[in-house]
Parts: sequence; C-alpha cells; structure tokens
Amino acid sequence: MMGKIRFFMLSFLIVFFISSSLFAAQGDKDAGKKIYEKKCWWCHGEKGEGNGPAAEFLMPPPRDFTLGVYKYKSSPPGQVARDEDIFRIISDGMPGTMLGTAMPAWKDVLSEKDRWDLVAYVKSMTDLFQTEKASGEINFGSQVSSSEESIKKGKEAFKKAKCFECHGENGKGDAIKKLKDDWGFRVWPRNLTKPWTFRAGSEPKDIFTRVSVGIPGTPMPSFADPKSENKLTDEERWHVVNYVKSIQDDTKRLKEGEIVVKAKYAEGNLPEDTNAPEWNNASATAYQMVPQIIAKDRFFKPTNDGITVRALFNDKEIAFLLEWDDRTKSIPGDADAEKLAEGEVLEDAVAIQLPVTIPEAMQKPYFGHGDKEMGVNQWYWSSGNATAAKVIDSTGLGSGKARDAAKTDVKGKGEYKAGVWRVILKRSLTTANAKDDLQFEAGKFIPIGFASWDGSNGEKGSKHTMTTWYWVLLEPKAGSKVYTYPAAAIIVLVVGQLWFARGMRKDYEK
Ligand code: HEC
Ligand code: HEC
Repeated sequence: MMGKIRFFMLSFLIVFFISSSLFAAQGDKDAGKKIYEKKCWWCHGEKGEGNGPAAEFLMPPPRDFTLGVYKYKSSPPGQVARDEDIFRIISDGMPGTMLGTAMPAWKDVLSEKDRWDLVAYVKSMTDLFQTEKASGEINFGSQVSSSEESIKKGKEAFKKAKCFECHGENGKGDAIKKLKDDWGFRVWPRNLTKPWTFRAGSEPKDIFTRVSVGIPGTPMPSFADPKSENKLTDEERWHVVNYVKSIQDDTKRLKEGEIVVKAKYAEGNLPEDTNAPEWNNASATAYQMVPQIIAKDRFFKPTNDGITVRALFNDKEIAFLLEWDDRTKSIPGDADAEKLAEGEVLEDAVAIQLPVTIPEAMQKPYFGHGDKEMGVNQWYWSSGNATAAKVIDSTGLGSGKARDAAKTDVKGKGEYKAGVWRVILKRSLTTANAKDDLQFEAGKFIPIGFASWDGSNGEKGSKHTMTTWYWVLLEPKAGSKVYTYPAAAIIVLVVGQLWFARGMRKDYEK
C-alpha cells in the first residue's frame, strides 16, 4: 500500500516537475504579450516602461521592465533574475501595506502556463536575457534555527553589517537617509518590525535570500558578495534572519474582525506618560489607514499605513493612546526632518473623530466629517504643539471650525522615540456642553475614526490617511453586570468593515 502511494506521489512530482519546467522552458512570449495587453499594461505600461495610466496613483510605482532589473531575485549577486523569481512575483503578488500593494497575485486568475508565458514576455522587453543567464539559486548553507543565543548573535551582526544605518537602531526604517532606486524613485528602508509588509515573503528563507542577494536596483546591498564591505558569513546571515524575525511587533498588525476599541476601567488616575506601564492593561487594536480620496485634494501616496489604539477610563475621564510608526519626526524647522522631507516640512498630526451624540441603533455619522443631522467632534493633536490638543466641530466636509480653547477640556501630549509616535488624547467623560460634546457612556458602542498626517510627506489639510468608522466601547468595570456584545451586531460590523476595506483598495488601485 505504502509503495503504491509513494509511486503515485513520485509520478505526480515527476509530472509536476516536468510540466512546470516545460512551461518554463517553453514560455511563449507571443501568448504572454496577449495576456499582458489585457492584465498588466494599465500599470506597467504598453511597452513595459512602468508608465501605465494607473502608475501615477501608485506608490511604490509599477516596475519598469526595460532595464531587466528585478528587485526580488534569488540568483547570486551580479547575475540576472531566475525565471522562477519572476514567476513567483507574478503568481503571489507583493504585499506592501497592511492589506497588500498594488501588484496583485495572479495565481487564482491566470493558469500556470499563462504565467510562464508572461515571464517570457516581460523578459523579452530587454536584450539582457538574450546574453545572460542565472547559474541557479544562491547557496543557503545550513539553516540555524532560532534561539535566544542566535538572536543575540544576529543583533551583533545587524550592528557589524551596519543594517542600522538604513533600517534604524530598532529596525523601524527610521535612519536619516534619503534613498532612491535605479529608476529615480524614492525608496524607504523597510520597517523590519512589520514583516507582513515584506515584498517577497517573510519566511526565514526569504529574508536570508534578501540579505544574501540584496535588492538589485536599490541601495539594499548584498551581504554575501565577497566584494561587499560588510560581508557576513552564511551562519551570521542566518543569525540576522532570526534577529529580524524576533523584532516583529504584533501590536501594529491588523487582525481581521478587530473593530472595537475596548476601553478598560482603571482604578485611580489615568496615565499621563505615553510610556506608562498602565497602558499595557488596555488591549491594543491596530487599524488600517488608507489615503483620503473622497474629498478634493485627493491623496494617493501615503507613508503611514496603520494606527494602534489603546484606551483607559476612570470615573471622571477617558484617555486614548494612539501609536503609529513614522520614519520621520516632522516638526517645521527640524534639521533631520528637512533632510528627508518631500518639499517643505509640515507637522505630523493625528485626530480622533467622534459623533456629538451617541447614535441610536448603532448608526454612524456620514463618513466625511458628519452631516447636519449628526455632527462630529475631532480631537486634533499636532507635533508643532505637542503638549496640547484642540477640538474641531464639524457637520460635513469643509465645515470644520476650531473651538475656542476655553470651551473644551481635551488634553493632548505626544512623544516621538525611535521611529514611533505615541500621543495621548484625554477628556472628561461628560461635559457641561452636551449640545456640542459627546457624553461618554459605558456599555454603548460609540463610533470612532482616526486620521493621521505625515508632515515630511507633504500631508496637510485633506491630504492625509484615515480609517473608516470603528467603535469604542467603555467596558463596564469589573463587578458590575456582566456585559456581552450582541453577536449579530458584531457580525454586521465585521462584514461592513471588510466591504469598506475592499472598496477602498479597489479605488486605490484604479
Ligand atoms: C494594479 C497595478 C499592477 C498590475 C495590474 C500589475 N502590476 Fe506588476 N507591479 C505593480 C507594482 C506597483 C510593482 C512594484 C512593487 C514594488 O516595487 O514594491 C509591480 C512589480 C512587478 C514585478 C517586479 C518583480 C521584481 O522582482 O522586481 C513583476 C515581474 C510584475 N509586477 C509583473 C506583472 C505582470 C506580469 C502583470 C500582469 C499579469 C502585472 N505585474 C500587473 C503593479 C501592478
Ligand atoms: C544602504 C541601505 C541599507 C542597508 C545597509 C540595509 N538595507 Fe535592507 N533595505 C534597504 C532598502 C532601501 C530596502 C527597500 C527596497 C525597496 O523597497 O525597493 C530594504 C529592504 C530590506 C528588507 C525587505 C525585503 C522584502 O522582501 O521586502 C529586509 C528584510 C532587509 N532590508 C533587511 C536588511 C538587513 C538584515 C540588513 C543588514 C544585514 C540590511 N537590510 C541592510 C536598505 C538597506
């Protein structure tokens, strides 16, 4: 019996192997051209120059195939990409933001043969592949499995190889360097604490490949090349891989179905320090930020893709801790920020949006700053005035008015450290001004949304990133009547949110 199964498996593997290499060898570029002209040109351009009609809305931009340079390849440094590398990206696409970049995965859309035909076609857009061929995959040595010791050695190798000069001391991608790729486009060293944004996979073998080969066409060098000034041995590269895997920050990761900020009851005073340990008592939820493309002055090229929220309340007040990775501390006049900015350095900023009254039956105000029936408050903090906050009252797009500081007790405080902004926004639960201010109540779902501005990326006014509406729920303190979320409500919320995220992505890709 075992023999039979083994025989079938073997013949399956042989057929699979032969057929895939057959397609690889035979990839028909004329057939590939036909598919390209249906599926690829609107991003990559008719002639593969990376300038299709959608290109101007995409960051990073679509690849220009005419140089023959592929960023994510597994052949030794200095050699052209392997067919398998190009096939892999076409099949799997490239994740980029929390939900993926613009380069789609095609394996569910196109047959394997179609994808090999495309490989042949994109390769034919340059003469390079007529004269050069990769010798095979790099040498992987023997993999070192992760352990405390290996991670420690990896951290040392990270220093020795000077990874920090681009990726920052903590791997947040926040070192002060302005980098470009060979096509002249701005590239940011990857934020290594968010492996789900790695373009070509975050398995140990993928990271080992990147560190060994580098990313051709970009400043990310090879650390295996004998000519490299910061060469690492095979073993040292596996330690680096284990170190990179160990700094993953899951509080920044979007988890499907997480749509409620659960504010926790706290005994005593609410923390004033953005790093206070009390914040760990509150659960952290991460939300995706998408560029604002509804109102005028649309915006397509964001640098920040998410925000993590924690909330605590006591008998008097509620405080939110907003945290997001930002490679630049943007304050007008800041010398480091000026080195990195696209144009003028503006302020970094963040805002919370809340309805003026808790809506009945889990309704939400109009997404764009509310409407006449249901107005909103925005609690706004900016880096130029980091120990204050203001309130903006709004009943629709463009109607926002900053409130007289004497008529609000919203307080703000922000701190930037090692590639991360942490901002506290705090207010009393109820105010004397119920006409204009939300009066918080425990046990109720209250709509809440977030927005952020990266001042070094030209973000100002309506050019910013934002979330959809989520909910904040003040969880009744322990000992009061047990509270359970109505299951049906949660399902409706989750479905609505997924629909929104998909819609936004589609618009973004258009
Ligand atoms: C919606 C826009 C879009 C469409 C459609 C699209 N791509 Fe891409 N593609 C991109 C972007 C953007 C990148 C670069 C991403 C990056 O550098 O992080 C890219 C990169 C690539 C790469 C580069 C891999 C490397 O290692 O450098 C290949 C190959 C590729 N695309 C092939 C295709 C093919 C073939 C099709 C059609 C079946 C296609 N793409 C359709 C946006 C698109
Ligand atoms: C000279 C600057 C520089 C140095 C030094 C550098 N990197 Fe990078 N790294 C980059 C840039 C830039 C990118 C992103 C390229 C892009 O998006 O086109 C990158 C991307 C990466 C990625 C993402 C791969 C993917 O699939 O998306 C990893 C992982 C990485 N680097 C690890 C390292 C490690 C580990 C070291 C040290 C051994 C290192 N880098 C040294 C500039 C650098």
